[in-house]
Amino acid sequence: MTLSEHPPVPLSGPRFQTDPTELYRQIRRDHGAVAPVVLDGDVPAWLVLGYRELHQVTSDPTLFSRDSELWNQWDAIPADWPLLPMIGRKQPSILYTVGERHRERANVISSALEGIDPFVLKERAERFADELIDALCAKGSCDIIAEYAMLLPVRVLASVYGFAEEQGPGLVTALNDMINGQEGALEGQQHLAESMVALLTAKAAEPGDDVASRMLGNTAGFTVEEVAQDLMVMLAAGHQPTADWIGNSLRLMLTDDRFAASLSGGRHSVGEAMNEVLWEDTPTQNVAGRWASRDTHLGGRRIGRGDLLLLGLAAANSDPHVRADAGRLTGGNNAYLSFGHGEHRCPFPAQEVAETIARTGIEVLLDRLPDVDLAVPAAELARRPSPWLRGLTALPVTYTPTPALGVLG
Ligand code: HEM
Repeated sequence: MTLSEHPPVPLSGPRFQTDPTELYRQIRRDHGAVAPVVLDGDVPAWLVLGYRELHQVTSDPTLFSRDSELWNQWDAIPADWPLLPMIGRKQPSILYTVGERHRERANVISSALEGIDPFVLKERAERFADELIDALCAKGSCDIIAEYAMLLPVRVLASVYGFAEEQGPGLVTALNDMINGQEGALEGQQHLAESMVALLTAKAAEPGDDVASRMLGNTAGFTVEEVAQDLMVMLAAGHQPTADWIGNSLRLMLTDDRFAASLSGGRHSVGEAMNEVLWEDTPTQNVAGRWASRDTHLGGRRIGRGDLLLLGLAAANSDPHVRADAGRLTGGNNAYLSFGHGEHRCPFPAQEVAETIARTGIEVLLDRLPDVDLAVPAAELARRPSPWLRGLTALPVTYTPTPALGVLG
């Protein structure tokens, strides 16, 4: 075991907002590839920052389990601990299912998502994107985050999952209220949970060409309540990172000369900007987590049975052992760990759905508002104060006002 003379790093504070890359570099310098950290309330955990070590952890779901019951800190965790909803205990969704049951469950989700016709997905993403642009194009200025990125993915996902068009706006509000975690959060969660059960009841009676019906037609023995839980995860875990992928990519295109060409008409650099964001500014920075099922060693550290390991996806992406070029354009290389790795990674069809929604959202915005420009100096753009999901609080822009297309009218 390598003993570090540096104290554990608090996994909070303004540096996660301002310059996380430099912060991870310093943590790696002081502690190595696996660093002791403390969460809210001085709760200890390990942050896995090394690319190789993260690969090792995510490739061995038996030793590094997704089962939060293994945690050796439960006795010290108060009932109102703010990270409790994220760490999760006795939650019946796929996120905390392990072993063969997890493989079956992931298969139910992947097969249902694979059934989405890519042309239908793109057509719906375009239609909802056009509808959102219609609501703001005549104004000449808007906040891309609140008025566009945070409204699009959930609307498209709700539609392909099987919800009726008129339920879309209510689901958008409920999910964003739940994510914001303030007033209306519990009501939002309640509305979503009830909507999932109602959707599954309706689709059981009359199946359609949608994700909910496909999951019901292939439940692998999971109950309707469990399927409802997973649909909830697929909506919540899908929406926010896809919204951040749109926001972070547009920020890059509006602030970095290397991507400015796309703003004057070319589309090819949209994909490059999105790829660059996954390497340098990925939406899911850190993930909680995995629990060691026995005493072991990792990156020169002795890990105790039941210790919590946090997946440092953003830090691993910039690990100098794999990124001698860190800071330069990443081109078509997609060896990033931004979607996780191994059995519990983001399902491949989910990654494809997210990519289509994000890319279409960005392309429609650039087509409709071709002279879009930042309304504030780049240095004033602020991130949400979270070490977990990385995204902007606002992206204020200006553009020449244009009339609405009235696509849905
Ligand atoms: C259509 C949008 C999306 C859907 C439906 C979706 C769905 C899911 C689901 C169901 C899981 C759990 C897998 C399991 O436990 O076996 C998951 C995991 C994950 N997703 Fe996604 N996702 C979406 C978009 C994204 C995006 C845009 C990112 C980041 C760029 C992302 C990053 C992750 C990561 C890092 C994990 C793994 C967590 C872990 O290893 O514990 N997802 N996703």
